[in-house]
Amino acid sequence: MAKLWGGRFAKGTDVLVEEFTSSVGFDQRMYREDITGSIAHARMLGQCGIIDKAEADTIIKGLESILADIEAGKFSFEVALEDVHMNVEKRLTDRIGAVGGKLHTGRSRNDQVALDTHMYLKGAIRDIAELLHDLQLALVETAEKYGDVMMPGYTHLQRAQPILFAHHMLAYFSMLARDFRRLEGVWQGTDMMPLGAGALAGTTYPIDRHQVARELKFDALYENSLDAVSDRDYILEFLSFASILMMHLSRISEEIILWSSAEFAFIELDDGHCTGSSIMPQKKNPDVAELVRGKTGRVYGHLMSLLTVTKGLPLAYNKDMQEDKEGMFDTIDTLKFSLKVYASMLRGMKVNKQVMERAVSQDFSNATDMADYLVKKGLPFRQAHEVAGKAVAHCIIEKKWLMDLSLAEFQSFHPLFEADIMNAIQPETCVNARKSYGGTSSASRERQLTVARETLEEQEALLDVYTESAI
Ligand code: ARG
Repeated sequence: MAKLWGGRFAKGTDVLVEEFTSSVGFDQRMYREDITGSIAHARMLGQCGIIDKAEADTIIKGLESILADIEAGKFSFEVALEDVHMNVEKRLTDRIGAVGGKLHTGRSRNDQVALDTHMYLKGAIRDIAELLHDLQLALVETAEKYGDVMMPGYTHLQRAQPILFAHHMLAYFSMLARDFRRLEGVWQGTDMMPLGAGALAGTTYPIDRHQVARELKFDALYENSLDAVSDRDYILEFLSFASILMMHLSRISEEIILWSSAEFAFIELDDGHCTGSSIMPQKKNPDVAELVRGKTGRVYGHLMSLLTVTKGLPLAYNKDMQEDKEGMFDTIDTLKFSLKVYASMLRGMKVNKQVMERAVSQDFSNATDMADYLVKKGLPFRQAHEVAGKAVAHCIIEKKWLMDLSLAEFQSFHPLFEADIMNAIQPETCVNARKSYGGTSSASRERQLTVARETLEEQEALLDVYTESAI
């Protein structure tokens, strides 16, 4: 097939090379951005008198009919035409004649591909922000639904101190709220208009970049043409955001997998969110959580891959940069799917209150509170720690819990113990005593829930901004 750039070549491209260099297999998903960007460019060329207004109208109509064809499934992308940009441009000229050749005036594929990718990522950020917002809402709903349930809090995966299950859920809310804020930063880096940079140096035509930016709803323009066509930071920022978000989802996945094991039995996932085994009839596996944990590795891979691709590139465009898109697309798909399935899994999850609360009453997670009791009666904390440690060691030998000790036994460890020690080491007392700002008490849970609801409301305002500004 004749190339749009064939002028200086004496022979056609080797078929193997054609296949190797082509990106249309994956960049065709940016067809809408490509055509919308071209329409804005053609309109600007007409308005600036670079081409006739009538020519601009013909080009725009031609582009609109190509868009309609693609959406109706009546367009076949050709590998020989390399990428989405040249597939669309070639079809335009086939359809409207030589005037189609004027579309590429004052533009290069280097600034065109950058434009399309910026626009595509803006749309993806909008979708991801909505799904991330909904997952945070699912965490808040879960915290509210099981507001009073207590569980052991862990350090080193050893029972540490009793906490509210809601407190645990709200910790994940806070992590995801930070992800949402990070995504706002990614948006700012993505909401920049590169078109008009030309191949690298700008253009000799009297173009109006600001008009194109306004039509395409970009907030800012690149100040430097070399930077405009070479920048892939916004994709790297997106992949970094995605890696951190996946790391968070992977951590909660690890807990969900543990909690749904027979050893913990803290939660039960809905049958609809699990799969069985082809050989073991009893199995109910937490595949969603496992797969999200697994897919985290793949997203990290895309970040490392693009960091590596870009590290040695001289300015400006190099073909290496075509490697930026597949990892970005795969990350977008992975995030959207993971966030969606996760929210529905959390909403279907049942918490086993009895098992969780047995775990906090039949263990030593109240030992800190035993020490704190003595501190409140005037003993220095280090001595109180020693006394409680001795009591725990005694209980282990006697096969008892601290709560099984009689007052006389308590007093044998220290004379400051009085009858109120029994209440002081009840799990509920331990939880509610942690009234410090951000602690696990039910008063703190209420405050955290109020803040979380406010955060969700602020996010909604931002979601509207994204929706208005994405194509
Ligand atoms: N398919 C190319 C890419 O994705 C478009 C830009 C090509 N530019 C060039 N000078 N070969 O990077």
